[in-house]
Amino acid sequence: MQMFSSTISLTIYETSCQWKRWWNRRNKLWKMCGRVGKVRSQRYLSCELHKWAVPERSHQRSGPDGEVKRKRTKKNQTSPIQRLQRPTLHVDAFLYNDDAIDSLCEEGKMSRNYCMSCGSTKTAPIDFLSHSFSILELKFLFHHALPDLSGKTLLDVGSRLGAVLYAGYVYSSASRLEGVEITAEFCDLQDKIINKYNFSDRIQVHHSDICSKKILLHQADVVVLNNVFEYFLNKEEQTKAWKFMCKNLKKRGCLIVTVPSLKESFRKLQINRQLSQWVEEIELDTDIFLGPDTDPEALNDIHLYTVL
Ligand SMILES: C[S@@+](CC[C@H](N)C(=O)[O-])C[C@H]1O[C@@H](n2cnc3c(N)ncnc32)[C@H](O)[C@@H]1O
Repeated sequence: MQMFSSTISLTIYETSCQWKRWWNRRNKLWKMCGRVGKVRSQRYLSCELHKWAVPERSHQRSGPDGEVKRKRTKKNQTSPIQRLQRPTLHVDAFLYNDDAIDSLCEEGKMSRNYCMSCGSTKTAPIDFLSHSFSILELKFLFHHALPDLSGKTLLDVGSRLGAVLYAGYVYSSASRLEGVEITAEFCDLQDKIINKYNFSDRIQVHHSDICSKKILLHQADVVVLNNVFEYFLNKEEQTKAWKFMCKNLKKRGCLIVTVPSLKESFRKLQINRQLSQWVEEIELDTDIFLGPDTDPEALNDIHLYTVL
């Protein structure tokens, strides 16, 4: 299984030329800025490097028919990622685990620190932000957190590289694995992998805003929401998206997996929703050895709920 997942992640890496270009550009910019340092890794924190690293992106919203329309982001508008406060590297843990990052640092291709005052030895650790589950987290999810999924449908909201879908295919017996992703490039990438590995008998990816796909929310037995809105939508859009989730995730017994907790997401957005009337949290035992890279802190971020 591990080898198979590694092959998938390697293939994604190979096929994602855009990702590589982005990565090289980021490293070049990073060198230009004279960044040096020592190791510390943190998840889901803030960013400044991203301002230089990420090209101006087209902002995508979907129309009433669910078709995604693109419009340029206005010059003075910044995405939530760009507004982050501290230097942060955006790395998908599904593709780059800690060992891979250490190797890149050793080769001088990457650093875990940045220079706080150019030319001096005064450095600070760069924050790392993963936009996907790592393979270990996925193993934990499918082997320990979720029950047997035979005959069930899993929906990954914001499926990005497709990590949850491929892991669901390999590690579970779910009969349907649906992904909804708002960014066209990620949908193309997922389609390539699905075709290459003949996953299409159980996996399907929809290029859409989740708010145009309520039927998928109504049908799903398991819904995964891994940091889905926080770094991609502004606060108003996030609030709207969460309210849409509350309204449409109504199937009794449906399991909802979130990172971070619903409580934290709602608190940050000041959404006054009585969670206890909607869902009940299922306690997860994260004290599990999954291999040498086990990171209990990352597992503690994963929350599981059942719809009442
Ligand atoms: C942090 S990634 C989640 C990755 C993946 N689910 C995983 O766990 O490995 C969040 C993804 O959600 C997508 N996204 C954000 N808002 C969305 C929306 N309203 N509808 C569909 N996808 C959305 C983003 O483009 C991004 O790829």
